[in-house]
Order: sequence, then C-alpha cells, then structure tokens
Amino acid sequence: MEVRAIKEYIAAEVIGVDLTDAIEAEMFAEFRMALYRHAVLVFRDQEITDKDQVRFSEGFGRLEMTIPSDPIGDGGPVGVVSNLDSQGEIIPPSDARSLYMQANRLWHSDGSFRRVPLKGSLLAAKCVPPSGGATEFASLVAPYAALPANRKKEIELLRAVHSLAYSREQVAPNLISSEFLRDTPPAEHPLVREVSETGEKALLVGSYAGNVVGWPTAKGRILLEELLAWCTQPHFVYRHEWQVHDIVVYDNRLCLHRGTAWDENKYKRVLHRTTLAWDEASV
Ligand code: OGA
Ligand code: MN
Repeated sequence: MEVRAIKEYIAAEVIGVDLTDAIEAEMFAEFRMALYRHAVLVFRDQEITDKDQVRFSEGFGRLEMTIPSDPIGDGGPVGVVSNLDSQGEIIPPSDARSLYMQANRLWHSDGSFRRVPLKGSLLAAKCVPPSGGATEFASLVAPYAALPANRKKEIELLRAVHSLAYSREQVAPNLISSEFLRDTPPAEHPLVREVSETGEKALLVGSYAGNVVGWPTAKGRILLEELLAWCTQPHFVYRHEWQVHDIVVYDNRLCLHRGTAWDENKYKRVLHRTTLAWDEASV
C-alpha cells in the first residue's frame, strides 16, 4: 500500500489495495492518517458492491443513514447522487429535482447548515459522463495557515450563520418547501476551528454561510466571499475527473467541494454515497 500526494496542499491517491478484501485495522489507521493529512483520498479501479462500500466506510467512523424524505436516499446507509429517476431515465435539467442537485455546484461543506454537520463522505463512481462532471475539492487547512497574521487575529473569534435556505436561494427562489425549511433551522459555527485529530486549524466557509454573527449582513458576506475566494485559489484545489470504479473519500472539516457541469441531457452520472457522522463531542 502506498499513499501518493496528488497536489501539495490537497488530495492523495492510495495505490496497491483491493477494497473487496478484508482490511486490517492497522491499514485503516493508515488510511485515516492519510485522510487527515490530505483531506481527500482517491482509490482507483475498485469495483465494489454497496455492501463493500458500507464496510469500507465504517473503517473511517460511524455512518449517517440517509433521510427517507431526502431525494438521494431511502433511509439506508447508501445515497444515490445521480441525474436519473427511479426508472433509470435522465431527469430533465429544468426539473425541480435537478435544480435541487444544482446546489452541489456551489462550494460547500456537507451539512454545515446543521448544528452537527457531517464529517465526510465516500463517493463511488458507478456511471460517469465521457467528459465533465468532475468534482472539485478545496483545502480549508492550508489556506488558513497561509492567511496573514492580522487576518487570522481578526477572524479568530467570529462565528457564521449557515443555512440551507441561503444556499438554495443562490440557485433558484422557492426551491425548498416551508416545511423542509422549518425542519432545517440555520446553525452557527465558528469561522475557524481546531481539527481534533491533528490540532490543525481549518476555516469553515461555503455556500451555506450567509452571515457573520453580530455583523451587518453586507459586511459579513463580503468577508465570507473573500475567505471563500482565498480557499479556492487553484493551488489549494484538486479537481477529480471521474472514471468508473473510482472511490473518493473526503473529510468535510478539512475541505470544501463542488460538482461541475456536464451534458446532463445526454449523459448519465451516478455516484453512490456513504456519509460519516460527525462526532458531536468535537463540534
Ligand atoms: C455530494 C456532492 C458533488 C458531485 O454528494 O455531497 O456535493 O460532484 N457531490 O456530485
Ligand atoms: Mn456535497
């Protein structure tokens, strides 16, 4: 087994493992270390079943089940991120279901609108378009370290409000029902947090963050925009061009991500997703 960095600040490829085999505890310890170091791990040519994916995912921590009312899940551990309906036919891009998924194209950290966000996810590529549909990942750790000292001082105690409504409004008005909104109230999180396993500091920005607590909205948005632009500079970003049987694991506390466009009318794209729960004690 070998872990090869892909870019200096983000992403590594893990080579020489077969994820359909049983994985020893020591190897998992190495995978987790590599994940905390690189934020994104890529495993290529892994033709695995959902059952294998669940078993592999559990090596990184406790799983979250999908919510039955969420379009991607059925209440089980595996969610399906795709542009297909239940018959396997392409959903028209103008359909509300597609618009809802479009919000994945904004930089985000999964579930940051929740009081307890999500720790990370594993995506397994089942069907990918011949071009486009890449997923991009931006470090939240190296950009913090690279901030000027006065900026670090200015933001160290700030908190931001994260809301699902704010992210969805950027895609289209009235995308989510008032009922769903009521069930997902906004949450406040520190702008800078320490990652429990490494002691490193990470920023938390992204499309859900719409306000800085105690600041006028406009002033807060300008700061959040500036920090987002800072984190998503090309040298902090890894762009994953999917091939079938790729598995990508990301730590949501250490990076942002976003999907990118492809010819959705023409090509199917299906990723199976398992999600790691955030240990509440470390929030
Ligand atoms: C996700 C997500 C992006 C993509 O599944 O959380 O943001 O490229 N996916 O599908
Ligand atoms: Mn996401």
